[in-house]
Amino acid sequence: MKDASKRIQQLRDEINHHNYLYYVQDEPEIPDAEYDRCLRELQALESKYPELITPDSPTQRVGAEPVKAFGQIRHKLPMLSLDNAFSDEEVSDFDRRVRERLQVDTVEYVAEPKLDGLAVSIRYENGQLVQAATRGDGVTGEDVTHNVRTIASVPLSLRGHDYPPVLEIRGEVYMPKAGFQQMNERAKAKGEKEFVNPRNAAAGSLRQLDPRVSAERPLAMYCYGVGQVEGLALPDKHSDVLSSLRQWGLRVSPEITTVQGVTGLLKYYRILGDKRDSLPYEIDGVVYKVNRLDQRDQLGFVARAPRWAIAHKFPAQEELTQLLDIEVQVGRTGAITPVARLEPVFVGGVTVSNATLHNEDEVKRKDVRIGDTVIVRRAGDVIPEVAAVVLSKRPKNAKPFVMPTQCPVCGSDVIKIEGEAVARCTGGLFCAAQRKQAIKHFASRKAMDIDGLGDKLVEQLSDEGLIHDVADLYTLKQDQVTGLERMGEKSAANLIEALEKSKHTSLPRFLFALGIREVGEATAQSLANYFATLEAIETASLEQLQDVPDVGPVVAAHILAFFQQPHNIEVVEKLIQAGINWPVIEHVAETEQPLAGQVIVLTGSLSTMSRDEAKQELQALGAKVTGSVSKKTDLVIAGTEAGSKLAKAQQLDIEILDEAQFIKMLKVHDKSPG
Ligand code: IVH
Repeated sequence: MKDASKRIQQLRDEINHHNYLYYVQDEPEIPDAEYDRCLRELQALESKYPELITPDSPTQRVGAEPVKAFGQIRHKLPMLSLDNAFSDEEVSDFDRRVRERLQVDTVEYVAEPKLDGLAVSIRYENGQLVQAATRGDGVTGEDVTHNVRTIASVPLSLRGHDYPPVLEIRGEVYMPKAGFQQMNERAKAKGEKEFVNPRNAAAGSLRQLDPRVSAERPLAMYCYGVGQVEGLALPDKHSDVLSSLRQWGLRVSPEITTVQGVTGLLKYYRILGDKRDSLPYEIDGVVYKVNRLDQRDQLGFVARAPRWAIAHKFPAQEELTQLLDIEVQVGRTGAITPVARLEPVFVGGVTVSNATLHNEDEVKRKDVRIGDTVIVRRAGDVIPEVAAVVLSKRPKNAKPFVMPTQCPVCGSDVIKIEGEAVARCTGGLFCAAQRKQAIKHFASRKAMDIDGLGDKLVEQLSDEGLIHDVADLYTLKQDQVTGLERMGEKSAANLIEALEKSKHTSLPRFLFALGIREVGEATAQSLANYFATLEAIETASLEQLQDVPDVGPVVAAHILAFFQQPHNIEVVEKLIQAGINWPVIEHVAETEQPLAGQVIVLTGSLSTMSRDEAKQELQALGAKVTGSVSKKTDLVIAGTEAGSKLAKAQQLDIEILDEAQFIKMLKVHDKSPG
């Protein structure tokens, strides 16, 4: 028993130490497996000697009983809110007001990310977490102690001994982007409702009556201030207070810095704005705070916001607008996608008037109807989407969407295969929409890269009857093109030249350009590596196709079906006749492909090559390069400013290489001399 008690203490110290390194310092020392082993040993010992369990044991984060309702907690010091600034001028005004009141020339500020989560106040007495509350109305909040205790980055007891006997810390509970995405993917797979954004997800997760549900949610916390403090004076600058909090094991954002004057503030705003998309969590702006606490006292408050701080907001990524109609678009493979036509709205830095609704199931699950007021979301470079409907604003005559049974372009039947989410037009190349999309794809940058042949021009050439399939492109004459809308002599000549230039290509590009279903760039590269010639691919059997790395039965069937269509063979022939050519590939056997079968993700930016170049290098070595990190990923290559993908890789314990390590790997595999 005595030994057990000693070992239990040892394990708790060890686990707390690693928690601190992992969550606060961001520098884990041991692999997750080792950490789990410690935790399991502690759990085993505690279940043998339940009398030795204490509330601050790292095992006590999960499993508490659900509560019937939230208790109310009156904050010892009110939790204030912040005034907002939306422009540089408003920030200058803020700085001027501060300087005038303090009668100083320049002010030192602390600049912090404005985390998009929910504010909490956590109370430590003698170093033990005793209470946690939401902000509520600023005076009274809800008791969420049981849930906050399940957040791994919130210490249950403080480190060291020099902390104040009473310490209330203030901070933001949030959900990292990667965790939010995973949670929503899971909800989607189960046909459940998704959360609109990480903030709502964090709030919903924290306000759970059952802490076991909260514990399952990927919540995290950053501290950015203090509330009531008793028994020990804190430093007299905010930046030093934050350092102290870090020392006591509390998590403070590494993005927080001290800056001088309004120039420093605005510079920070730009830097963080550029970083916004690559951060692993959402921020909706930055917060500026006067650093010296005596100056803060001098400045005081107005209503419920301090005069010594302000939030400088980024452009909103979500806005409300009206859904005017739902139309359908026919894609290259006949996929019919419902698209929301919206009352134009400025969101995420651009005016959005269309947003994808993905497929029929999605429209049903989100219960989107024509006439609804919807939340449109555009985060980073992601295509705009209808995040949710505001049900309370639904008009009586809102109209549900009905998937057409006939293709709106060619009138062919629309079918939906069991188990597939997408409905498809069965018209194939008879369908003008599919034909146009196929030509657009053929001309695109990663395919034949025909400069100047954009979507609009493809539409015109098709509508004028000048082209019916991709091979017709190479029969175009300059005088046929001149005279089309916005096509002068010069542009027409340029187009003919670009077409001529595109004839010198590579086998992978050509294969990709053909638009065979499920044959993306990576598969095209694998096929070229494996078979080396177009003839070999055209005549390959189903079995032979499946021998190619990452070609499964479905993809193989699509390839086979494509080359069994006389029409397709005819088009390919015509293209070759027109002079399309590529350098001969020396046969590369699979065994010479050191990365065959490896699934690799590139993220962040590389300084020595573009992402496309890196991708090609990897593909040439046989790797499959994909766009998102999942359990199937073998390796992640992270350049600078890698964001959520890197975070996810870390979470899933996937091997990560930085640029230098990546270059080294390429060198090792480089078969060319030198
Ligand atoms: S300071 C008096 N710092 O923004 C100071 N708030 O709009 C009050 N927030 O309720 C808060 N990041 O939920 C502060 N670095 C940060 C913050 C932050 C996010 C949230 C917090 C607060 C709201 C006010």
